[in-house]
Amino acid sequence: MEYVRVAAASEVAPGQIVPVEAKGLKLLLTNIGGEFRAAQRKCPHLGFNLCRGKIDGGGVVCPLHKAKFDLETGKIERDPKLLFIGMKAKNDLAIYPVKIEDGDVHVGV
Ligand code: FES
Repeated sequence: MEYVRVAAASEVAPGQIVPVEAKGLKLLLTNIGGEFRAAQRKCPHLGFNLCRGKIDGGGVVCPLHKAKFDLETGKIERDPKLLFIGMKAKNDLAIYPVKIEDGDVHVGV
């Protein structure tokens, strides 16, 4: 694994979700109360762009079917749903390690 610089920490405000790339992987980067988290950008349900989602507590909510994923563990906290029809995401969200160095955010890929 190699750490790749993806952004300046000052570019990601608390609660903001920004798209970043590391070694060709499309990721999301967010700041939850000063803790940075990186995860796969595609929703594990049907692939929607989670950068268009919202942060809720320590997780991200997909805007398409409202599935919620913990951004520390990647675990599904709430299954997707369409009106009254319950669905299942195939996998957990892939989470990547993050470290801050000299004011920059680095993601391990
Ligand atoms: S595509 Fe994200 S919950 Fe369905």
